[in-house]
Amino acid sequence: MKVLVATEKPFAKTAVDGIRNIVEKAGMQLALLENYTEKAQLLQAVADADALIVRSDKVTREVVEAAKNLKIVVRAGSGYDNLDLEACTEKQVVAMNTPGQNANAVAELAIGMMIYMARNQFQPGTGTELRGKTLGVHAYGDIGRLVAGLATGLGMKVCVYHHRFKGSELQTDTITGVDSPEELYKVSDYLSLHVPARPQSIGSIGKSLLSLLPKGACIINTSRKEIMNEQELEEILAERTDLKYASDVAPNNQAILEEKFGSRVYATPKKMGAQTKEANVNAGFAAARQIVAFLKEGDRTFQLNK
Ligand code: 3PG
Repeated sequence: MKVLVATEKPFAKTAVDGIRNIVEKAGMQLALLENYTEKAQLLQAVADADALIVRSDKVTREVVEAAKNLKIVVRAGSGYDNLDLEACTEKQVVAMNTPGQNANAVAELAIGMMIYMARNQFQPGTGTELRGKTLGVHAYGDIGRLVAGLATGLGMKVCVYHHRFKGSELQTDTITGVDSPEELYKVSDYLSLHVPARPQSIGSIGKSLLSLLPKGACIINTSRKEIMNEQELEEILAERTDLKYASDVAPNNQAILEEKFGSRVYATPKKMGAQTKEANVNAGFAAARQIVAFLKEGDRTFQLNK
């Protein structure tokens, strides 16, 4: 059995070594395609793979169809908007993710980006502190929960919203749960987005919500650029000169945003939320173990296309 790790943005070496160890101990063979730049390279590499580990790499219908022996694909990470689940199901390929395994890295980056924006992107001048400010967490999954915990430790007030829960169900001694995104946005000096990219959430964060934010608020997006309505973001940043936006990976209109709004906007050059050695090890090892467990024992825990 051949397990292919195809990563346009490679894992840390220790993660790759560990993945190899897990795969080879199970009597399987590991193949690596790292730093590839062309889709054709991926199409060629998957041709004889029985299992595939990817990160944000796009596993399209074309890829699934090119992988004639493919039985399982694991997205080493949480968001699976890069997998064509329908194509996987049609071709009887099991698709999985590794939820929570890289969450801490993303949560730490979200807090780091808040501090970076509060301190004027480390440029000279007087900044502000996070202590005493209100953090709004939009979507309270693995990452949202970690961000909330870290923010509490920093002395922030934390307010959370999740579409599947009532506010009262999320309420704790240190966390205020709210019933609607509107309630959340109204109180959030910092708004941290953890909404996955799904058909219903693409472009869902726009002017109607962003205009509710308090004066001087800062939006931190470490989820997906696609959930933001970029045109409306541009409009609200023009209308509300007090707002700031920081994003892990540039929106499509980043050049325009920078030109118009300068240091009120910031974007990482390449998605880096999960880019830590620890997250690579956690997510990479989990992916390899899930593949071995599926191929050897038929274990379908974490299957997405049921
Ligand atoms: C995820 O959904 O797990 C994160 O966005 C990480 O993506 P990456 O593996 O491409 O860094």
